[in-house]
Amino acid sequence: MENFKYFMPTEVYFGKDIIQEKKELFKGLGKKAYIITYKLPGRHYSLEDVQAVLDEFGIEYRIEFGIEENPSTETVEKAAAEVRDWGADFIIGIGGGSPMDAAKAIGVLLKNPDKKGIDLYTDGTLESIPIIGIPTTAGTGSEVTGFSVLTRNDLDTKQAIKSHIFPKYAFLDAKYLMEMPLRLTCATCIDALCHCIESYISTAGSELSRSLCEIGFQYFAKSIDDMRTVIGDPERAQSKTPYTYETRENHMMVSLIGGMCNAQTGTCLPHGMSYALTHNKHIPHGLACGLLIAEYLKTFKEPQNVARVEKAVHLCGFKDLDEFADFIDMMLLLKSDITPTPEEIEEYTREFCEQKHRFARHPEPAGYEEVKRIYTNSLLNKKH
Ligand SMILES: [Fe+2]
Repeated sequence: MENFKYFMPTEVYFGKDIIQEKKELFKGLGKKAYIITYKLPGRHYSLEDVQAVLDEFGIEYRIEFGIEENPSTETVEKAAAEVRDWGADFIIGIGGGSPMDAAKAIGVLLKNPDKKGIDLYTDGTLESIPIIGIPTTAGTGSEVTGFSVLTRNDLDTKQAIKSHIFPKYAFLDAKYLMEMPLRLTCATCIDALCHCIESYISTAGSELSRSLCEIGFQYFAKSIDDMRTVIGDPERAQSKTPYTYETRENHMMVSLIGGMCNAQTGTCLPHGMSYALTHNKHIPHGLACGLLIAEYLKTFKEPQNVARVEKAVHLCGFKDLDEFADFIDMMLLLKSDITPTPEEIEEYTREFCEQKHRFARHPEPAGYEEVKRIYTNSLLNKKH
């Protein structure tokens, strides 16, 4: 067996009404909490649960609703400046990746008041005040990773901050997913599945992280019948709670495991290649990864990698890669034509291949031809 390291310092609490059950943990973090979340048209159950606990213990709090999707350096800098004098003891990030990633970056700026936003990208030694991550989607896994990805307007790109900031606690309650609509469910679930698959294939994977990925695949497999039923049933698809509680729990496990494994290995080609689609064609992150994942899995030639892909596909509940590809296609639910031109594909390929580090954990020789083939077969040779 090869040597490996596995580092996951976040305490994970999973289950129905888990925030209420573990409320004492909030008390241990201090007297002032800064909450970062987003506004919802209906009830915000996770926020209500957090507020109930904070009120019960007399913990003062402020709520920030104004963090945008893919928060920028300027946004986290401004938020930190606004609460610095007030003196938050800890931060609670409630939502998808954006509020939780923002919470980590703001936590660093609050812990290090002399630092500017730009320092987040250069100093990997900076620590944060304690963070609590509470996911309301099942995709990003940010509640169990050290990653915080921000938008850098100065470079017109997204970039992870240099420090790894793992939340102190992650509270995962599948009831917060119940009213998530079909489209967001599919996009985030594909993202979580891609984290598991890419980590499983990555050369940075270990016996331990791959065993976890295999458990993630099995939770995904448990959800596919319900996924198929909902997509084929317009009444359920449009209902307030399209999926069963069991499906939501299964997806939350895929997301949790995807995050835990992603934290060990990082992602692979599909994630790296997806950024051009999100940036240029505004395709949501999970869908952009989903568009590429099946063709990526078809590129492998070496027997041990082909066997690994086959095992992943079987554990996910499919007889072969074609059946897997059809299922992912169904989940994409694309409304508009996102087909890039052959020239655009050339451009994405060129830009991607300039970033040599993107290939570092890919287990076979790959370069321009392979990347172009994945883009072309995924986007041009296939009608979505
Ligand atoms: Fe992702």
